[in-house]
Amino acid sequence: MILKFLPNQHGGSLDMNFNVQKLRQEFPNLNIQVHGMPLVYLDNAATTLKPRCVIDAINAYYVTGVSNVHRGVHFLSEQATAAFEYSRQVVRQFLHARRVEEIIFTKGATEALNLVAQSYGRHFLKKGDEIIISHMEHHSNIVPWQLLCEQIGCVLKVIPINDRGELILEEYLKLLSDKTKLVSLVWVSNSLGTVNPVKAVIEAAHSQGAVVVIDAAQAVTHTMINVQELDCDFLVFSGHKVFGPTGVGVLYGKEKYLSAMPPYQGGGDMIKSVTFAKTTYNDLPYKFEAGTPPIAEVIGLRSALEYFQTHSWESMHQYKQELLDYGTKALLSIDGVRIVGTAKDKTSILSFVVDGIHPHDLGTLVDQEGVAIRTGHHCTQPVMEFFKIPATARASLAFYNTKEELDILVRAINRAKEIFK
Ligand code: ALA
Repeated sequence: MILKFLPNQHGGSLDMNFNVQKLRQEFPNLNIQVHGMPLVYLDNAATTLKPRCVIDAINAYYVTGVSNVHRGVHFLSEQATAAFEYSRQVVRQFLHARRVEEIIFTKGATEALNLVAQSYGRHFLKKGDEIIISHMEHHSNIVPWQLLCEQIGCVLKVIPINDRGELILEEYLKLLSDKTKLVSLVWVSNSLGTVNPVKAVIEAAHSQGAVVVIDAAQAVTHTMINVQELDCDFLVFSGHKVFGPTGVGVLYGKEKYLSAMPPYQGGGDMIKSVTFAKTTYNDLPYKFEAGTPPIAEVIGLRSALEYFQTHSWESMHQYKQELLDYGTKALLSIDGVRIVGTAKDKTSILSFVVDGIHPHDLGTLVDQEGVAIRTGHHCTQPVMEFFKIPATARASLAFYNTKEELDILVRAINRAKEIFK
């Protein structure tokens, strides 16, 4: 059998010499023009650009191998199934999970969080039980728990943050009690860039017997993830934030929990047998993958993870921290700019406000210069409420960004200020 979608053509050797100009060539989107200007893409927390190998892997599936998975004995179906299951192994290795059965494909981090809330939460929590989240959660790690609280009468508690946008750990420890049954925490804040001390949070929760869910949507490009070392019970991320396609995400869960949880959705592939009298469910991981999965996207995600891992974590981290420091200084050199989110442990996110210019106006003006930033509440309205602002402008960095691009952002902000003078 020839698996045309495997593996990445460029091979998998580790590139220790981090060369940003070379790696930029892998991302065709970086060559486009916006309003006649070269694109400066600084919206990586919203979604990352895709390297050519990911586009090629998806294309290869659609051009030479379209078929459904787990359903056919014919060549194409077997080929697609092998590629799909190989992707699961790559994700297992990427997360350093113990077993492939602990890797569930979802349509994104949001769906994965809802799965845990509705399957684990509804089954194992009861009225009066407490769930702890933090003040800096994305809405996708707030609303699923609020829904659960409405459904079964459990209680949501919130870890406060300080003016730098850091968790107040002493307050977390005070919230923890034997009533705490679940803690769900973002690892890296999408609107502040704060890197949370997840290991300490997990250990404290476990000492009270609570399970811990980690939202790694932004962390996934920030740090190597080892779910066994971390000892989290669940962890979620989305493919499109790690240079993969949209429409696919991952739920990691410890096998002991996943096997005890009821299915989240019913349909094809998640069953062993169906009669009107009784239906029995499939084994892990299929019990949680009802219906035709996002096959091309799962194949694309595999390619993205393989590609991403050809760069050393150390060099990527060092480069991105340099960019963050450079961008922070450059923004602060502009009169009237205030950075929102100044945690000691911080990565890749520059959220800011400019005196006298609404972030949306700023976003529209810098867009005219080809600069893509996100403006708004970034799906973290409680963070905006805490800082008493309606919105921020946010430049979020990836390893293909450069200091020159940050200079272009600064020039564009200065021009916007001229217009608003
Ligand atoms: N959560 C994504 C962001 O921060 C969409 O922009």
